[in-house]
Amino acid sequence: MELDSVIKKRRSVRSFSDKKVSWKLLLDAIDAAVHAPFAGNYNNLKFVIIENPERLNMLARHASQDWIMDASSALIVCSDDTNLEKLYGERGRIYSRQQAGAAIQTLLLKLADLGLAACWVGAYTDSKIRNDFSIPKEIQIEAVIPIGYEKKTFKSKTIKKKKLEAVLFWEAWDKNRRETLFKEPSIHTPDSH
Ligand SMILES: Cc1cc2nc3c(=O)[nH]c(=O)nc-3n(C[C@H](O)[C@H](O)[C@H](O)COP(=O)(O)O)c2cc1C
Repeated sequence: MELDSVIKKRRSVRSFSDKKVSWKLLLDAIDAAVHAPFAGNYNNLKFVIIENPERLNMLARHASQDWIMDASSALIVCSDDTNLEKLYGERGRIYSRQQAGAAIQTLLLKLADLGLAACWVGAYTDSKIRNDFSIPKEIQIEAVIPIGYEKKTFKSKTIKKKKLEAVLFWEAWDKNRRETLFKEPSIHTPDSH
């Protein structure tokens, strides 16, 4: 699929059909995620793959979000700050959160590209997931990603996003207008020469 269509197609889906997702597709999506940028190219992420329905139920309970139990599978995205903190001090922890986010978005885009439905879940009780899924105390739980095939419901709707002009400043904070500094270059895309 074209990048633009995947970006626009991706959305949070919380309603899944009974169709099971092959673990091989999950590996494809994780393989995309590990191509994200990492500070110093240090990939500190681990992905715990959950397919067992009882364990999906546990995740749903620990997140107090019942819809998670209808997913075919889920990923618990984890990171280890230890080495990034050694390398970059306090900033290492910030890098860790940032690169997990970059990897999660890459994962979500690949899942959408594969025709799969997913949602980024951040609200859960860490200690309960840590306990039931044997995640060591020095490891951060970055997100839970329930995955399945979408069950279309009448509730499926398009989420409105902020308009481009609402997120832009030019040259400095609060400068809403672009000054003409130089002649506009012509726009080249990889296909146009
Ligand atoms: C850090 C983060 C945490 C989130 N946590 C949850 C969550 O716990 N449960 C949920 O249903 N959606 C969660 N979401 C998904 C957002 O609700 C969703 O991205 C937002 O409504 C925009 O919709 P879209 O993803 O379809 O564009 C989370 C998203 C992010 C980025």
